[in-house]
Amino acid sequence: MLIQILTLFPEMFDGPFNCSILKRAQEQNLVEFRYHNFRDFTTDKHRMVDDSPYGGGSGMVLKPEPIYRCLQAVKKDRPLAKTILMTPQGAVFDQKLARQLSAEEHLIFICGHYEGFDERIRQWADFELSIGDYVLTGGELAVMVVCDALVRLIPGALGSDESAVRDSFTGSLLDFPQYTRPVEFEGSAVPELLLSGHHAKIEAWRREQAIVRTAQRRPDLLKDANLTEAEQRFLME
Ligand code: ADE
Repeated sequence: MLIQILTLFPEMFDGPFNCSILKRAQEQNLVEFRYHNFRDFTTDKHRMVDDSPYGGGSGMVLKPEPIYRCLQAVKKDRPLAKTILMTPQGAVFDQKLARQLSAEEHLIFICGHYEGFDERIRQWADFELSIGDYVLTGGELAVMVVCDALVRLIPGALGSDESAVRDSFTGSLLDFPQYTRPVEFEGSAVPELLLSGHHAKIEAWRREQAIVRTAQRRPDLLKDANLTEAEQRFLME
């Protein structure tokens, strides 16, 4: 998978994208990131990427031309690549979108910055994505969140003992509680059943815990959780 990122701050990606699973995925050639600074596509002496808004008001607005030229250059050999504009006005990113995007061969992300961008930029994106109802100083951190979530879903990105299959949200349920050694710590013990070696009972307990946890913390997720009738009755008790 090729992910190209249009940003005024490519250096922001240096640390986060060169650690852990993202680093390994690049080493295994599962994903390649390329960064393009659209300031390099300005033609004026001051390399201006933003300007004051028509109609007045405070703040600066990203100009259309540098982003347009940068996008043209990036899409030249790959016109079918999906282009995603990061903005709080976009569709809210979730695990389902992460799964869909992880199946793409080529993605292009545009990071806004400053107070906003010229409205004409929107028409060059296939869709707009938000990572939540808050305003960041730019799209870079949002792209990092999206890329982290989708790269780990590329087959082979997680090691054999890690698995995305049971993640929270995979079947619309939150994850069940997990424990590791020691059996007891600061007066708090691992549930006995997990030490029993009884796999069928452990599976049943985990499913029950996931259902209870989801009902307590995120009841909105239950409608897509495909609970059996017995499980629905259990929740009513
Ligand atoms: N840019 C600024 N805020 C954002 C958000 N919440 N999601 C995506 N991009 C953004």
